[in-house]
Amino acid sequence: MKTLKFALILTLSITFFSCGGDEKKTEKEKVKIGTKKESSSTDNAKEIEVKVTGNDLMQFNVKVIRVKEGQKVTIVLQHTGKMAANIMGHNVVVLKQGTDIPSFSSEASAARDTDYIPNGGKDVIAHTKMIGGGETTSITFDAPAKGEYDFICSFPGHSGIMQGKFIVE
Ligand code: CO
Repeated sequence: MKTLKFALILTLSITFFSCGGDEKKTEKEKVKIGTKKESSSTDNAKEIEVKVTGNDLMQFNVKVIRVKEGQKVTIVLQHTGKMAANIMGHNVVVLKQGTDIPSFSSEASAARDTDYIPNGGKDVIAHTKMIGGGETTSITFDAPAKGEYDFICSFPGHSGIMQGKFIVE
């Protein structure tokens, strides 16, 4: 009898917890864009929020971000690692077309005083601030003209791996 009672309580607890779990899942789905390798906008909404994560292994979770011309774009960058910004810093920098990634990155490496954005940001469409493990930041900007752009992390030595395409359709 005691065992049965225990089992009943256990079942009730599981039911209770799984209800809570469902709610959490729904919340998560709203900001799910970016958990896939490609992040894209599914409709012609005026605004789009794109979630990008960076980790302690110097990786972005997203390789392609697709938005539509005229959209207001918010990039939310979350550093899912533990390392500090001065060791494993990440940002998202969307570069103007024609910007050479290696030369930009080498200038960025020397631009520590301006958060690794060189030349007053003349080659940059938009960028987040540089963050460390456990931090989240975001930037909102108007999508530039249709075309393909590069996005990188401008922390010294990161852009070789931490880069992707920002595509405006
Ligand atoms: Co980085």
